[in-house]
Amino acid sequence: MGVVFVKSAIVPKGKFVSENEPITTAYDHGTLYGDGVFEGIRIYNGGVFRLNDHIDRLCRSAAGIKIKMPFSNEDVEKYILETCRRNEKKDGYIRVVVTRGDGDLGLDPEKCKTPTFFIIADGITLYPQEFYDHGMPVIVAKTRRPSTEVLDPNIKMTQYINNVLCKIEANNAGVMDAIMLTPHDHVTECTGANIFFVKNGELYTPAPNIVLQGITRKTVMEIVDSLEIPVNQGYYSIDKFYDADEVFVTGTGAKICPVRTINDIEREKYFDFEKPGPVTRKIMEKFDTITKDPEYLTPIADAKESWEEPNKKTPISRIDLLGI
Ligand SMILES: Cc1ncc(COP(=O)(O)O)c(C=O)c1O
Repeated sequence: MGVVFVKSAIVPKGKFVSENEPITTAYDHGTLYGDGVFEGIRIYNGGVFRLNDHIDRLCRSAAGIKIKMPFSNEDVEKYILETCRRNEKKDGYIRVVVTRGDGDLGLDPEKCKTPTFFIIADGITLYPQEFYDHGMPVIVAKTRRPSTEVLDPNIKMTQYINNVLCKIEANNAGVMDAIMLTPHDHVTECTGANIFFVKNGELYTPAPNIVLQGITRKTVMEIVDSLEIPVNQGYYSIDKFYDADEVFVTGTGAKICPVRTINDIEREKYFDFEKPGPVTRKIMEKFDTITKDPEYLTPIADAKESWEEPNKKTPISRIDLLGI
C-alpha cells in the first residue's frame, strides 16, 4: 500500500498517510469546481527528472489562479523526494496537486482558507511499446479547445474536462490520443502531450501561447538545438501535419512517441515507415540518454539526508512532519 504526502484542512500539519485514507473533504473546491493545479513528473533511474522545472511550473500555475503555495520550493522538493523514497520508486510517476481547499458549496475562493496539497508517487502506464517501435494512431478531435482568452493552456489546471472529452472521442475511435484544435483551426496539442512535425529536415511545433509549455517539449527544443536542427513555433493548420514527413508527440507520460496515422472525418494520413522517421529517431535516442544523465535527475537517495527524521519513539506509519 502506497503512502501519500498531504497537507489540507483535515491534515493541517502535513504528513504521510496511507493512500486509501481521506485527505480532504467533499467540500474541497478541487472536486466541486476543478479549482486547482497540478504537475506530473517522471522518475527515471532513481532520480526525479527536471524537478526544478516542474516545481517552477507548479508555482506559476498556482500563481496563475491565485492559490498561495503552502510550502517553499525547497520544501516541495523535499516532500516530493521523500514521497518517492517511502514508496520505493526508482522509476515511475509523481503527481503533485494543489487545490483551493475545503470551502462551502458556493464557488467563492475566499471561503477556502487552507489549500489542499498532496503528492502521489506511483507507476505509470505508458503507451504500448509497439507505438514507440511503429508509431501510434491518433485522430483529430471534433471537440475544440477553448481559446486562450477563456482558459490559459499554460496554467496546468485540474480542469481537464476539455481534454477528457477529446480522449473520449479517441477511445470511441479505438485510438489512444487525439489532436485538439483551437476555435480558429490551429493545431494545439494532444490530450496529454505536445506535438511536433518534421518537414524537409526542420521541426515545427505550435506556438507557446496556445499549448502547455511542456517540460518534454522544452527538452526536445534543447536536443534539436544541439543537433543543429532548425525549430519553428507558429500557428499551423492540421493540413501541415497531413503534409509532414514525420509527426511525434512529447510528454512526461508519453516521452517521445512517433505518430503512425492521423484521421479526421474525411481523410487518413499514413506515415509509411518500418521504424520511426530519422529525425524522430535521433530525438528519441538523445532523450533516452538524457533520462540517464545525472545533470537532469535529482537523486531520490538524497531525500534521506535532508529529511528531518521523526522521533524514534513515534510509530512509523503515521508521522507528523516536524516543523510544519
Ligand atoms: C495538455 C498537455 N500538453 C502537454 C503536456 C506535456 O507536458 P510535459 O512534457 O511537461 O509533461 C501535458 C502533460 O503534462 C499535457 O497534459
